[in-house]
Amino acid sequence: MVSLKLLALRVSACLTAATPLPVPETFSFTVRQDRPFNASLPNVTIFATGGTIAGSVASSDQTSGYRAGALGVDILIGAVPQLLNVSNVKAVQIANVWSPSITPEILLNLTQQVQRELDDPYCAGIVITHGTDTLEESSFFLDLAIRSEKPVVFVGAMRPATAVSADGPINLLEAVTLAADPMARGRGTMIVLSDRISSAYFTTKTNANSLDTFRAGEQGFLGFFINIKPKFYNTPSLPLGKPYFDVMNTTSLPEVDILYGHQALNPALAEAAVNSGAKGLVLAGMGAGAWTEPGSEVIQKLVETHGTAVVSSRRPADGYVAPHSFIYGGGFLNPQKARIMLQLALNAGYEEAQLRTVLEYYG
Ligand SMILES: *[C@@H]1O[C@H](CO)[C@@H](O)[C@H](O)[C@H]1NC(C)=O
Ligand SMILES: *[C@@H]1O[C@H](CO)[C@@H](O)[C@H](O)[C@H]1NC(C)=O
Ligand SMILES: *[C@@H]1O[C@H](CO)[C@@H](O)[C@H](O)[C@H]1NC(C)=O
Ligand SMILES: *[C@@H]1O[C@H](CO)[C@@H](O)[C@H](O)[C@H]1NC(C)=O
Ligand SMILES: *[C@@H]1O[C@H](CO)[C@@H](O)[C@H](O)[C@H]1NC(C)=O
Repeated sequence: MVSLKLLALRVSACLTAATPLPVPETFSFTVRQDRPFNASLPNVTIFATGGTIAGSVASSDQTSGYRAGALGVDILIGAVPQLLNVSNVKAVQIANVWSPSITPEILLNLTQQVQRELDDPYCAGIVITHGTDTLEESSFFLDLAIRSEKPVVFVGAMRPATAVSADGPINLLEAVTLAADPMARGRGTMIVLSDRISSAYFTTKTNANSLDTFRAGEQGFLGFFINIKPKFYNTPSLPLGKPYFDVMNTTSLPEVDILYGHQALNPALAEAAVNSGAKGLVLAGMGAGAWTEPGSEVIQKLVETHGTAVVSSRRPADGYVAPHSFIYGGGFLNPQKARIMLQLALNAGYEEAQLRTVLEYYG
C-alpha cells in the first residue's frame, strides 16, 4: 500500500499544472487533461485498456494473484513524470480489464478511435496500454486495420504497478518516447517491453512469467532502447504482403475458433464449433499443420456443407504452414494471429483466391 500512496502523491504533484491540452470532439470518454502543455513537444495519445501494467495488490512482493486493470490511466501517467518532458500526453481510458477479457467490440472501438486520432495532424503517435496475455492479438489487429505512417505502440508489463521493480513505468516511458520519435514512422504497429522494440505482425508472448517474454523467433526485433532512446537496426519497412482491412464502419466480427491438434484428438469439436456459430476455424496443427485422418474427414464435410473457412497453422513455436487441398495454409502466422487475419478477411467479404493470398503469404 505504501507504494500506491506514493503513486497517488506523485500524481497529484504533477497534475496541478498549466494550460489544458485541446481535446478533439470525437472523444466522449477522455480523462483529465490538465497536464502541462508545451507546444514545441510532439503530442502523443495514450489509450488505456487495463492489464498488469495497471495491476494492483496489497503486498509489494506479489507478482501474481493481483488484480489486473485496477488503476486508471491517470495513475499510470502520474507515476512517470518524465513523460511530460518527452511529449504532451492525452489519455483515453477505453476499458480497464485484463487482456483475456478484450472483446471484438473493444478492439473495434479502439481501432476506430485510434484511426481518427492519427488522422488529426496534431497527433504524432499513439500508445496503447494492454495486458500482455493477448497483446499480440490486439496489436496484430491494429497492424492490419490502421492506415497511417505514424507509430502505434502497444505496451504492457509483467509485474503489477505495486511490485518491487515494477516494469510498467519504464515500459510506458519507452513506449511514449518511441511514439513521439519521427524515426518510428512507417514501421507498422510495434510492441515495447523490456527495452525491446518488435513488430506486432510476428511477435508472440513466449514465457508466462518472465519480463523478457515478447519475441519474434525467426524475424527478430526491430530495435532496442539505450538510455530510454530508441535505436533501430534497419530503415523503416513492413512485412511483405501485409494487407489492410477497413473496419471504420464495422460493429461486429465473424466468429473464428481455434482447435488444438494432438494425438487422438476429438473430431466432434470441429462440428460443435461450427454448430455454435463459427464461420471459420484455425487448426493449431501438429508439426507443419498435420491433423488426424478422422479429424480431417469431419472438417472436409464442414467445408462442403457449411462453407466453413479452415486455416491450418501450427503447434510448434515457429515455422511455415502450406495449404492442403480444402484447407488454407496459415503461412508464418501462429494460430492466434491466423484467427485475427481470418476474422478480418471474412468481415471484408474475401473469398477463396483472396483468402489464399492474405493467409499464405505471397510476399
Ligand atoms: C518545451 O520543450 C522544449 C523542447 O523539449 C524545451 O526545450 C523547453 O524547455 C520546454 N519548455 C518548457 C516551458 O518546459
Ligand atoms: C501539439 O498540438 C498542438 C495543438 O493541440 C499544436 O499546436 C502543436 O503544434 C502540436 N505539436 C507538434 C509538435 O505537432
Ligand atoms: C524535465 O526537464 C527539465 C529540464 O531539462 C528537468 O529540469 C526536469 O528534471 C525534467 N523532469 C523530469 C521529471 O525528468
Ligand atoms: C467507444 O466506447 C465509448 C465508451 O463506451 C463510447 O462513448 C464511444 O462512442 C465508442 N466509440 C466508438 C467509435 O464506438
Ligand atoms: C462508413 O460510413 C460512412 C457514413 O455512412 C460513409 O460516409 C463511409 O463511406 C463509410 N466508409 C466505408 C469504408 O465504408
